[in-house]
Amino acid sequence: MSYTLTTPLYYVNDKPHLGSAYTTLACDALARFKRLTQDDVVFITGVDEHGQKIQRTAEQNNITPIDHCDKISARYQDLWSRWNISEDRFVRTTNPRHLQLVEQFYERVKASGDIVTGRQTGWYCVGCEEYKDDPDDAVDPLCPIHQKNLEWRDEENLFFRLSRYQSEIETLIAQDDFIAPASRRQEVRNFVARGLRDFSISRVNVSWGLPVPGHPGHTFYVWFDALLGYLTALLDDGGSVDLDRLEHCGWPASVHVIGKDILRFHAVFWPAMLLSAGLPVPKSVFGHGFLTREGQKMGKSLGNVLDPELLLERYGADAVRWYLLRDIQFGDDGDFQQQRFYDLVNNDLANTIGNLLNRTTSMARKWFDDSVPPNVIEIETKYPLELIAQATIETVCRCMPELGFKAASEAILQLAIAANGHLNDTAPWSRMKQPGQEHVVANDLYIVLESTRIVGLLLAPLLPDLSARILDQLNCRLDPEHWLDQLRWGGLTSGAELPKPVPVMQRLELDEDS
Ligand code: MSP
Repeated sequence: MSYTLTTPLYYVNDKPHLGSAYTTLACDALARFKRLTQDDVVFITGVDEHGQKIQRTAEQNNITPIDHCDKISARYQDLWSRWNISEDRFVRTTNPRHLQLVEQFYERVKASGDIVTGRQTGWYCVGCEEYKDDPDDAVDPLCPIHQKNLEWRDEENLFFRLSRYQSEIETLIAQDDFIAPASRRQEVRNFVARGLRDFSISRVNVSWGLPVPGHPGHTFYVWFDALLGYLTALLDDGGSVDLDRLEHCGWPASVHVIGKDILRFHAVFWPAMLLSAGLPVPKSVFGHGFLTREGQKMGKSLGNVLDPELLLERYGADAVRWYLLRDIQFGDDGDFQQQRFYDLVNNDLANTIGNLLNRTTSMARKWFDDSVPPNVIEIETKYPLELIAQATIETVCRCMPELGFKAASEAILQLAIAANGHLNDTAPWSRMKQPGQEHVVANDLYIVLESTRIVGLLLAPLLPDLSARILDQLNCRLDPEHWLDQLRWGGLTSGAELPKPVPVMQRLELDEDS
């Protein structure tokens, strides 16, 4: 099955921050899961490079906008590759192919009679790249998000006739599976119920944008251009830029994963634009929550923004991925807490999973000739660990497609906890001292090792690096074409050599400047 998923296209006004890394990591886990279950995945990410915000940043830095964009885009690409992000396409909206696509799309929308000229007056936030409806303070209004002054605009623009799509959009957002999670639906429904107004899609005061054909001096509004980046990415398969090809290239997207602040653009404006151009709308839009740090909003002025480049350098990808995906319900807001981050990584990954693997392989090597012990006892009923492993696999396979990373991670952890419990209950270190008990010990160790193998396999989409290290210790390798088969109980080969144990996860130690 074809499965297209997207992150937002990040503004290049600044280097990546934890918010952008968060969405990208989550999408990466989803993309990896979908590939392992044999979907035909196109995972799209990229950057949004036009608009006044970026134009001004470049001016402030005394460089040309394109030099600025090249620099920050490279930084994004480099970070994603160091995070081991498995994107299939990285789109830049300054790519000349994108201009071709925007022009084609615009012609379609125009041919539908959806472009009109009009006068746009109102308060604009350059940080949000958005007109604000009703500022509280009419004299000197501030953007409630950026706390910066709004700018008054009064200009002749081209408008997209969004108001014509009122009933189609109402029908679309009434579908239960279009906006996820359910908690985000009402906000969009309320917005649409107030009545959709046409929105301006061109600017006359912004030179750093794509020119509107036939309207000298006008550039496209950055959001009109940016959303189309998803389509440019899909058509970037070696073929031509031709909107008619889209439906053979993975469109419509299965899910656009975005932050809650840009839900309106994706769930209302975007589908209307697509309908106007005679193209299918995305299947769903998932609006995740916002991250705070130690209870505070992250912001440049507060100096508390978490830098994903530093996090990666200091703690490694596994630790950060685990914390973000396991601790925060994807969809809800979440708070990054340093102490909790250390505790979870140390307890879950270093102790529960890492030590389990280490002590079990050590015992197996010591008593069973450096290899996986024989699985000798024939019992009619299934072992509890086998049943727990099966239930865990079912939970992971049910939760991951719904972006339920927390529930999936917790289920995997519970399997490791159960395996630790089995080891403690059966105490092979004492039993081994009793005569004639070797086969029972062999069996106990086998089922714990087998559970650990399943933990390693199930972690593959969430923590691909740690997963590989766990499997290495068991002399196993992920076979991406047969992941579901590999998850069947009993896949661990008795007699297979076990390598010398090495810790798979370093403990994090609190240091002074953290
Ligand atoms: N360029 C637009 C998206 C265009 S998509 C066609 C944009 N870019 S952004 O860089 O400002 O934001 C990218 C994403 O980061 C958004 O989904 C936003 O919600 C998310 N986040 C920004 N701050 C965040 C947190 N503090 N926490 C979690 N996500 C956050 O908007």
